[in-house]
Amino acid sequence: MKNYLRGALLAALLLLGSFREMFEEEESRMKRQILAALLAVLGAAAGLAICPPGAGAQAKGVDAEGHAWWQHAVFYEIYPRSFADSNNDGVGDLKGITSKLDYLKELGVNAIWITPCFPSPQVDFGYDVSDYEAIDPMYGTMEDFDRLVAEGKKRDIRVILDFVVNHTSDQHKWFIDSRSSKTSAYRDWYIWRDGKGPGQPPNNWLSTFGTAAWTFDPKTGQYYYHYFYPQQPDLNWRNPAVEKAMLDVTRFWYKHGVAGFRLDAVDTLYEDPNLTDNPVVAGKDKFGRPNMDEKYNKKLPEVHEAMRKLRSVADEYGSVLIGETWTTNVDQLKDYYGAKNDELQMPMDLMMTGFKGLSAAEYRKHIAAVNAAGHWPVYVITNHDIVRSYTRYGDGIHNDDIAKIMAALYLTLRGSAIMYYGEEIGMENNDPKRKEDVEDPEGKLGWPLEIGRDGERTPMQWDHSANAGFSKAKPWLPVPLSAHTHNVADEINDPDSVLSFYRKLLAMRHTETALLDGDYVSLNEGNPNVLTYVRRYKGEAILVILNMSAAEQKVPFELSGAGFLAPKVEVLLTSFHKPLKGMFAELPMEPYSVFIARVTK
Ligand code: GLC
Repeated sequence: MKNYLRGALLAALLLLGSFREMFEEEESRMKRQILAALLAVLGAAAGLAICPPGAGAQAKGVDAEGHAWWQHAVFYEIYPRSFADSNNDGVGDLKGITSKLDYLKELGVNAIWITPCFPSPQVDFGYDVSDYEAIDPMYGTMEDFDRLVAEGKKRDIRVILDFVVNHTSDQHKWFIDSRSSKTSAYRDWYIWRDGKGPGQPPNNWLSTFGTAAWTFDPKTGQYYYHYFYPQQPDLNWRNPAVEKAMLDVTRFWYKHGVAGFRLDAVDTLYEDPNLTDNPVVAGKDKFGRPNMDEKYNKKLPEVHEAMRKLRSVADEYGSVLIGETWTTNVDQLKDYYGAKNDELQMPMDLMMTGFKGLSAAEYRKHIAAVNAAGHWPVYVITNHDIVRSYTRYGDGIHNDDIAKIMAALYLTLRGSAIMYYGEEIGMENNDPKRKEDVEDPEGKLGWPLEIGRDGERTPMQWDHSANAGFSKAKPWLPVPLSAHTHNVADEINDPDSVLSFYRKLLAMRHTETALLDGDYVSLNEGNPNVLTYVRRYKGEAILVILNMSAAEQKVPFELSGAGFLAPKVEVLLTSFHKPLKGMFAELPMEPYSVFIARVTK
């Protein structure tokens, strides 16, 4: 029988609900492929409904697989200066965040991570904390914070705070006291040393923000150490009093109902007490300084001891610790979970943010390595320090399609996911064009090689009105022109928008057990353009096919590697622009497209 005739007949039989009987008679691989493809078409044509956004079950406690809430959760990072401005002063605030909780609930978010909202001189926009146990008036009051937590609770949205563990502001009372005299009770809370000689710092370490790592303080004639800006002196975690004070800070916030912390810059917590010079290696950094192997001031083994202590307090409150863990390989990442799983539950896999472009082979290899490591992965594609994923991956033509691919990738993998505000609407970077427009000191210092991080921190685009509905006042950073097309109000009504895709995807992620608990099986491994995998849980399975290339790709429904010899395929979500039509033995994947389906035996 000719293929198209066979296909037509099969389609009719499918419609009559006779699929199974028919299938038993048809055994060749080609026939199975046609069946699967037909089912795909039928599913797409019927516009198979997936559950409505926000209908996802909120996992509580530990499930049958022993998974805790955070393993099923989707986290959403909020840069509070830029999310929603309730008092129209051009800077976002806590009341603004509270006013958007319904939006986040509808989107399918389970927890928000708020970057530092504590009192701060704002040299590093909050990452220079001058009081760990209060709210910066710019963002509101402690009552506003408590209300945010309470309103979040009503919606099953947990609140995660950002804990800047490595350093304080130079305006923190501890540092003010510490620098006041060599005999201050707080002197040893920071890292003070004599210079090597007149005008010579204690060693060759450098600040990652482009300055020296040591600042001379004439009052006491010594240098203090800072891995970041001079206004961010490093705490001395070797001092038990520092450790105790920091653990107490976490208790303070747990009592205010926070569900955990994102721990800032944990790699830099400890330094070699002998201050050994770092080896200089080939090349120059983005500030034009010699590159260094930072082996004596980063990732020291003592970091793990501190993580364990923070974890034991977190465990007292049933809370979760997320780490800003910059690693170059999966082994390093593995270390942060702790040898006995007693450190961070969620060390972020930030490695994917360093991938250049879209490469199915690169993702395949990385995902395999992460899964093989045996821990619960934590995927991130962008944040407030990294050029937005929309800009990083976009080719200028298929940007929305590519944004959907990236969403489909990390939100269907086995693991927890951390989104960044605005990613769900396809927000792009809005980089400063002139040095005088730069707000981030890193950009001021490094211009033009390092332009800073303003571009990825611009106001959330709520609608297409002036200031994108973020504020009635001029926002602290400018809104890009793309806010006219990429904003919540318009995208929510457009079924093909990036936002609509995210909402459907997140709803699916919360309800499909295979996506929550399933294993990961990679398929079509030799294909350099298309990433294909199945997530399987007991009898259920979800197939994900991502065409990461600018050309159409034909993908066989060959799922035997995942144990499906005769799969029945039901389309759940695609990003296709045209409906699937015709007879085919292989799935025609549009350029840069997503295909997600349920497969059953
Ligand atoms: C982390 C933060 C970054 C900040 C730095 C210093 O890397 O994500 O924004 O500038 O720590 O606190």
